[in-house]
Amino acid sequence: MTSAISRPLVLGLETSCDETSAAVLDGDNRILGHVILSQDVHEVYGGVVPELAARAHLQRVDGVVDEALAKAEVTLDEIDVFGVTAGPGLIGALLVGVCWTKATAWALDRPWVAVHHMEGHLFGPVLEEAEAEPPFIALLVSGGHTLLLHATAWGEYELLGQTRDDAAGEAFDKVAKLLGLPYPGGPSIQRLATEGDPTRHRLPRPMLRRNQTVDDPAYYDFSFSGLKTAVVELTRDLGDCVGAEVPHVAAAFQEAAVDVLVSKTLRAVRETGCGRIVLGGGVSANTWLRHEMGRRLEELDADVGLRAVHHASLRLSLDNGAMIARAARFRFDQGEQAGFDQNASASLPFPGLRTGSRTGTSSRT
Ligand code: KG4
Ligand code: ZN
Repeated sequence: MTSAISRPLVLGLETSCDETSAAVLDGDNRILGHVILSQDVHEVYGGVVPELAARAHLQRVDGVVDEALAKAEVTLDEIDVFGVTAGPGLIGALLVGVCWTKATAWALDRPWVAVHHMEGHLFGPVLEEAEAEPPFIALLVSGGHTLLLHATAWGEYELLGQTRDDAAGEAFDKVAKLLGLPYPGGPSIQRLATEGDPTRHRLPRPMLRRNQTVDDPAYYDFSFSGLKTAVVELTRDLGDCVGAEVPHVAAAFQEAAVDVLVSKTLRAVRETGCGRIVLGGGVSANTWLRHEMGRRLEELDADVGLRAVHHASLRLSLDNGAMIARAARFRFDQGEQAGFDQNASASLPFPGLRTGSRTGTSSRT
């Protein structure tokens, strides 16, 4: 290793779902080596099969880490800090990463940090854009979560809204399956929607009413299962004609989902006066979401200071080890280290998240 590389060197490992990924970051949070291996074993099932995911991680984790180290031109014993996704996610898949990291950190006598997957997504954009720093409004949208946050500082997050049922990515995946499109559903719907007319079929905007006020508990919350049911009913009504209508249905669904996501995010911008928005999680790869967020933020008639929308590149929007390494570095700098009693948790609480302050019942999870 050359002496020009700054310390600490952090190795981040992500195995919470169907990507096995490892990355090495230097002391300035530059990505020295990064490998993302997507599992293709799930394709024929139209969704992730948890046991197959865990087995595939176990088979690939050593190879993925070795390749990330080789790209970074460092050896394993040069790593100063290890970071790993400890939750939320598929428990069998998480255990592979946590056990690998715990054993390696113990063998090398190095500190390690347990990272929350969604806090990892929050750190995705700042790896590429230095301005993606708090204070900001964050919309975190993945296969398992839909969270609207006001981040006043790293580690200080106020929960404004979340989904009451399906996550945004889950809705994309379920609607895609219904329309006979391949998994993962988000990219399939996005692709087909470019050929469709979003105005040809009108779909509902669940939990979005113009006359809602901030003290309404539904003001910032989301619901996607009703939208999915509306697509089920629409395809039933279309009957034999559904084939030719699929691009239009895909476009109408994407339009409705994005309208709700953007509208609620802009409510948060207006109420907090914070015009910087950070998008994270797999659904933030959606080009229509990015486009609409930027366009409508510009048009927002409110005094919110600087206006900017930050999102990571496609590679860093989906699950990856670099965001986990970056979040681990933040937590490590805060003095946090995992002990050997640290477990993986499918429902790990988001660190630093305050809930209920809108209604005056603030509490920390
Ligand atoms: O963050 P992520 O890679 O994994 C989880 O943490 O869940 O997010 C995966 C989700 C899937 O539901 C996938 O369909 C969705 O992100 N997704 C998209 C797009 N790319 C991935 N949704 C909409 N548009 C996209 N372009
Ligand atoms: Zn994710």
